[in-house]
Amino acid sequence: MGDALAGKSILITGAASGIGRAAAELFAANGARLTLADMDADGGEAVAKALGARFIKADVTQSEQVRAAVALAVEAYGRLDGAFNNAGVSRYGAPLALGEEAEFDRVMAINVKGVWLCLKHEIAQMLGQSPHGGAIVNTASVAGLYGAPMMEAYAASKHAVVGLTKTAALEYAKLGVRVNSVCPGVIRTPMMDQATQGDSDAEKRIAKAHPIGRVGEPEEIAAAAMWLLSDAASFVTGHQLVVDGGMTAI
Ligand SMILES: NC(=O)c1ccc[n+]([C@@H]2O[C@H](COP(=O)([O-])OP(=O)(O)OC[C@H]3O[C@@H](n4cnc5c(N)ncnc54)[C@H](O)[C@@H]3O)[C@@H](O)[C@H]2O)c1
Repeated sequence: MGDALAGKSILITGAASGIGRAAAELFAANGARLTLADMDADGGEAVAKALGARFIKADVTQSEQVRAAVALAVEAYGRLDGAFNNAGVSRYGAPLALGEEAEFDRVMAINVKGVWLCLKHEIAQMLGQSPHGGAIVNTASVAGLYGAPMMEAYAASKHAVVGLTKTAALEYAKLGVRVNSVCPGVIRTPMMDQATQGDSDAEKRIAKAHPIGRVGEPEEIAAAAMWLLSDAASFVTGHQLVVDGGMTAI
């Protein structure tokens, strides 16, 4: 299909479903050598098998499991050129005063600590390899740039992803590691289905919030992540690439 990522060793987290799965398919079609990580072993193994990729069951909240995912990419392909830190969770729920402490902790652990652990282990590898360097994309959200009623923990977690992205980009800009994020609007994945609960009116309302008049498709986020990981984006770092059908232009 293309050669935007020809020969690059790339790790994708949350690769069993939705945006991560679409990214695995697109990156593979563009020449990447993939290591896929997810907590969902059956789903992740199926995606990896179809693409001839490596798979590791890994929970991004566990440092040793993230370290093992990076190590598998290096064992398989000799180095780590890129990473798409995409695993994440959300819950559309109640106003903040009714929020549950356990749910807040869960969202923060996966969306924030998970991305932090991925950055930590990936950057260490990228600095240590020869030739050194690499590119990293974190999945944030439009909820990382604006408030998101009924999703306060999610909005806080995605603002934190933006903060991690900018800071890591600044710290490693001179050392050959680029770090950016993608900020999707609402994308048709199991995460969206969880929010709409199969209510087609809810999906219509969500679609209307996007000036383009529809929700996004996972492939449209994968394409943005691929560009940021590719050499075509060689002068881009610390950037939040909004892919939202115009939602945040209003
Ligand atoms: N779908 C949307 O509307 C939307 C919008 C903006 C941002 N996002 C973000 O995109 C990313 C992907 O979401 P999606 O819509 O594809 O959702 P999804 O639920 O389809 O996929 C998420 C994947 O992450 C995996 N995962 C969850 N917790 C994990 C953990 N602790 N360790 C490893 N893997 C774990 C799941 O098993 C699943 O395969 C998330 O970070 C999400 O916040 C989604």
